[in-house]
Amino acid sequence: MANIDWDKLGFDAYRTKTLVLARWKNGQWSEITETDEFQFVLDPFTCVFHYSFACFEGLKAFTQKDGKVVLFRPYENAHRMQRSARFLGLPEPSDEMFVQMCEMAVKANREFLPPYGHDASLYVRPLLMGAQPKMQLTPPNEVIFAVMVAPAGSYYGANMKSFSAVIPLNYDRAAPKGSGSYKVAANYASTFRPYQIAHEQGHMELLYLNSSTHEFIDEFGSSNFFGIKNNTYVTPLSDSVLPSITNKCLQEIAADLGLKVEKRPVRLEELEEFEEVGGCGTAVVINPMSHIEVKEVLEEEPVKKVYRFCPDGEVGPVSTRLYKTITGIQKGEIEDIHGWCHEIKDF
Ligand SMILES: Cc1ncc(COP(=O)(O)O)c(C=O)c1O
Repeated sequence: MANIDWDKLGFDAYRTKTLVLARWKNGQWSEITETDEFQFVLDPFTCVFHYSFACFEGLKAFTQKDGKVVLFRPYENAHRMQRSARFLGLPEPSDEMFVQMCEMAVKANREFLPPYGHDASLYVRPLLMGAQPKMQLTPPNEVIFAVMVAPAGSYYGANMKSFSAVIPLNYDRAAPKGSGSYKVAANYASTFRPYQIAHEQGHMELLYLNSSTHEFIDEFGSSNFFGIKNNTYVTPLSDSVLPSITNKCLQEIAADLGLKVEKRPVRLEELEEFEEVGGCGTAVVINPMSHIEVKEVLEEEPVKKVYRFCPDGEVGPVSTRLYKTITGIQKGEIEDIHGWCHEIKDF
């Protein structure tokens, strides 16, 4: 086992040992291979560099209480990658290929899989990208599908600690009928600079509104939005947000816990009414918000409005229960009644 302090892990591009690869050329997938050469050698004209011709996924593998090793809902990620690939005009890895390559990547890098008893997991990052040198704006006929892994702890340096977010009205994430609901690389590039400015101002997250009218909440830069009020779990219905697998789970867990669940347009002003607000996603799990500021211009001084939720950095009771339940299922401490954990056999 690698010499890692599992309790101090953050979320980063940790260099492990083995990369799992398949190449697609002229309509055919190659054999799946494993390589310890942890690099790609690509022509500088390769279209992924210039046109962001890529989509990716993010899921986690866990060591459970009884020693089983599981991937959490890998078929959901396979389907989402197929959807992103169709959107871009890239070849779609089948369910079997996707799950097999994720399993191979976890097995080949087993020394980096956190043992049971830590708030850590092995993050699995499948990447599908155009690998042909080309200038023309048409899909390439050479594609790489790679799966890498990285041991991961908490995304923001601490689990279930509340942070703030800012709504930058001078930045939008996704155009109406654009790429917002797909996990394509290009969606993320445009968030780096506003993230940097937000971090300098002490905010961990960016919360984006619908770009056509700025009346409704879409999602955070790295996660979906949920709010809790009157024993109800509310999450935005929008064509421009990524269909989060964590959010899907939390909606089911909320219903199991006796909450009402509403997936519907959420007006910005409704932030006033929520008792708890959080981001949710594979990397962050649940990221509770202490407050959210609205700024007309992110780079400039005046704050237009502040919405406050749990005071003094406290985390709300519903967010805490949701977090404990989903992480308990992932670690095999709570019965997996929905069948979300996919065991990697012969580990
Ligand atoms: C923009 C965005 N929204 C939502 C999510 C959460 O999705 P999931 O729960 O499937 O990880 C992510 C992370 O993957 C994301 O990048």
